[in-house]
Amino acid sequence: MKVAVIYESRTGNTASVAETIAADLEELGHEVGVWPTDKVNLDFLADADMVFLGTWTDGLIIAGHRPGGSGHLLALPGIWGKPTAGFVTYAIHAGKVLDKLADVVTILGGKWVGGRAFRRDDIPNGIGGFVVAAVDAAEGAKVAG
Ligand SMILES: Cc1cc2nc3c(=O)[nH]c(=O)nc-3n(C[C@H](O)[C@H](O)[C@H](O)COP(=O)(O)O)c2cc1C
Repeated sequence: MKVAVIYESRTGNTASVAETIAADLEELGHEVGVWPTDKVNLDFLADADMVFLGTWTDGLIIAGHRPGGSGHLLALPGIWGKPTAGFVTYAIHAGKVLDKLADVVTILGGKWVGGRAFRRDDIPNGIGGFVVAAVDAAEGAKVAG
């Protein structure tokens, strides 16, 4: 598959998860592009079979969690119909931020195939399994139409 990995990151944690996702995808034989939200290759994205969209957790630690840089995420071009997996990084508590990222993906026209939150002091633990599961879900979503 052709896979676009797009992320929003202030201090590098989400960028490092994105780069690891991209490296894992390449190892699995996929064609991959990875960019921050303001540098997306639109031609590549238009042709992509699948998208990974990631950001950081913005909130009051115990409440009010939302995807960091939502404005930048919502300013992305539409990802109409593309299976999309979400990922977030967080410090202590991510709350329901993945549900909110799923809402962003739906607004962009993507087909949510699941997401994962990664604690910033435990990266890259779990990324490999997440990538395999997300690719499986995306392939299933394409077959199901
Ligand atoms: C304004 C602000 C609010 C944050 N709120 C939360 C929070 O509610 N819960 C949490 O676990 N981490 C919170 N964090 C921590 C970040 O989500 C975490 O450090 C993340 O890995 C940063 O990703 P980045 O390095 O890609 O920018 C907050 C960070 C900032 C700057």
